[in-house]
Amino acid sequence: MDALKRQAAARALEHVQDGMKLGLGTGSTAKHFVELLGEKVAKGMRVIGVPTSEATRAQAQACGVPLTTLDEIDHLDLTVDGADECDGALNLIKGGGGALLREKIVAAASDRMIVIADDTKWVDVLGRFPLPVEVIPFGLAATQRAIVSAFAQSGVSGQMEVRKAKDGHVFVTDGGHWIVDAHLGKIPDAPRLAGLLSVIPGVVEHGLFIGLARTAVLAGAQGIRVVERR
Ligand code: A5P
Repeated sequence: MDALKRQAAARALEHVQDGMKLGLGTGSTAKHFVELLGEKVAKGMRVIGVPTSEATRAQAQACGVPLTTLDEIDHLDLTVDGADECDGALNLIKGGGGALLREKIVAAASDRMIVIADDTKWVDVLGRFPLPVEVIPFGLAATQRAIVSAFAQSGVSGQMEVRKAKDGHVFVTDGGHWIVDAHLGKIPDAPRLAGLLSVIPGVVEHGLFIGLARTAVLAGAQGIRVVERR
């Protein structure tokens, strides 16, 4: 699986040109991209990156990739990031690694987003992977009630749990928030659910990435498949 992730990362790297401003994703697939990008930089390629998490920041620095922030530059040419699920419209579920907020800010500031993944991430309908919703700890129960209502309005339901870190404590995002993971099974209308979740006051951001990815690079046993958004 790791070899497939690396293949997808390597293919996405072909889209990187000298002088580009890049969004650097988070997760085990994006990690390969950052590593391969570091090798290009070591050979003289000039790029600058905005990391989507503290983990990616640390990795990019270790790989010698120059970094900046969205306060210092006005847009990004390309973001390359992984995904937990990708459907035929290139709508995504992201946030399995807890970085969805910065990932979405960075993707939205980019002219183009390429998703890299092994082909197990490709689904007909989003929702098999638990949907991460980043929330403010204050008023959590009220926020969860509003989330349940949003689910009902978009025709989905399922259990929700506050994400825990490996040490058993509540997982805290880079932004200092919590994550609620919702086990929905299938999300028949992801754009509608995304809109309903976005207007809940205690929801900081959710893991539905609608209309952000333009290209998906999916690596499988049969080779690499590149899908462009229609
Ligand atoms: C991080 O918060 C996520 O959005 C990741 O991009 C996503 O979970 C994919 O991660 P992997 O590449 O590790 O599967």
